[in-house]
Amino acid sequence: MRIKVHPGRGVGGEAAVPGDKSIAHRWLMLAATARGRSTLSDLPVALDVRSTACCLAHVSPYARPALEAWASRASERAETDGFTWDGSGAGSARSEVVVEAEGRPALREPSSPLDCGNSGTTMRLLLGVLAGAPFRAVLTGDDSLRSRPMERVAAPLREMGAGVCTADGHAPVEIAGGSLHGIRHAPSVPSAQVKGAVLLAGIAASGETTVVESASTRDHTERALVHLGAPVRIERERITVSAFQHEGFEASVPGDVSSAAFLVGAAALTGAGLVVRGVGLNPSRTHYLDVMRRMGIGIELRLTTEELGEPVGDLVVGPCTGLTGTTVEERELPLVIDEVPVLAALAAHAIGETRFARAGELRVKESDRLSGIAEAVRSLGGQAGLDGDDLIVAGGGLAGGSVDSRGDHRMAMAAAVAALAASGDCVIEGMEAADVSFPGFIGTLRALGAGLEG
Ligand code: S3P
Repeated sequence: MRIKVHPGRGVGGEAAVPGDKSIAHRWLMLAATARGRSTLSDLPVALDVRSTACCLAHVSPYARPALEAWASRASERAETDGFTWDGSGAGSARSEVVVEAEGRPALREPSSPLDCGNSGTTMRLLLGVLAGAPFRAVLTGDDSLRSRPMERVAAPLREMGAGVCTADGHAPVEIAGGSLHGIRHAPSVPSAQVKGAVLLAGIAASGETTVVESASTRDHTERALVHLGAPVRIERERITVSAFQHEGFEASVPGDVSSAAFLVGAAALTGAGLVVRGVGLNPSRTHYLDVMRRMGIGIELRLTTEELGEPVGDLVVGPCTGLTGTTVEERELPLVIDEVPVLAALAAHAIGETRFARAGELRVKESDRLSGIAEAVRSLGGQAGLDGDDLIVAGGGLAGGSVDSRGDHRMAMAAAVAALAASGDCVIEGMEAADVSFPGFIGTLRALGAGLEG
């Protein structure tokens, strides 16, 4: 899908966003391995989350009917109406699933490979869940996912006792689960997916399993485990779990604060005020707001409630009168890893240079975002480049032009946001990639006032 952006209109008002993808993956996996019934509401119909639901349906006979019914309803809804902001405070593409399960021992060998689609989180976390299940499974995905590194998760699971074979470090990954023992693991790259996989395997292992992080990453797995009553000890960046079987639970998935980042960026670039309601405000996900504040955007967080240990509330963005460049240090990167594309979109319009230091991890995301961002900024008439693994965006504005998402959802949405403040029209190809995390993104931007064609 191709869109044409006519810049110059204010993009603001009130919005909501689809449910949080990171949280939804984890809660679905926990629901499918719980003992008893779980009810998850406001599950996002994002493609990645549907991948998780479909994979779980193949290994969890009790949960299968509900997960398959949800996934097929979700795909119809995403195709027909997507996510739209109707002014009532609720997104139309949210939904509920009631999962019956009989605990981890009820998981069964899948009859065919599990297709994780585009979703690295599905593949890596599911490997952690399956590491303790006594059968073989093959996990695969699309071209992008099959090019992403899997040894980082295979190695610790192997050390715990699972048989894991990768194809030269990549998917397809074959896993033969079995009896596991606890380990102490210090991931070489800070990664919430690796941490989550090891902790999910750890609750099926004998003894203690400890993950020691060199830099903090999002903590949804440990928060959920704590709230389900698991024996979890958290001492700064060291998380320890031991064997535990959880019961079913009820929770409503908060709005995805990473998706909200694109709307905040759109409002800031067009000088409009914005409120995004019902968003997850977990501090391990909101660091990008601190970076945006450094760039000159006034943002307030209003906590309203909590869901399974996750703080939820509203994001209030004041009208922005100008942006300045900043430096995002290496230690900050894991906390803004998914927001770099939209931060770069803001940086392209800032006064002065913005540097993302030692950002090499961006090369192995859904696309090579390190070079992709630099190229996209240049294609839209700005200046950006690489200095080793540092990404530098010069600032000073965009003249207009055309860019392709290369199938990467966040690259597509960041380009659309950057285009809103360009001095000339912009064309974005491959906009359908947004459905991976934010079905209805374009409809939402339009409802907030953006001038978009296509
Ligand atoms: C995620 C962790 C991050 C992030 C991804 C979601 C998660 O990946 O980029 O979009 O839900 O755990 P890494 O763990 O590879 O940094």
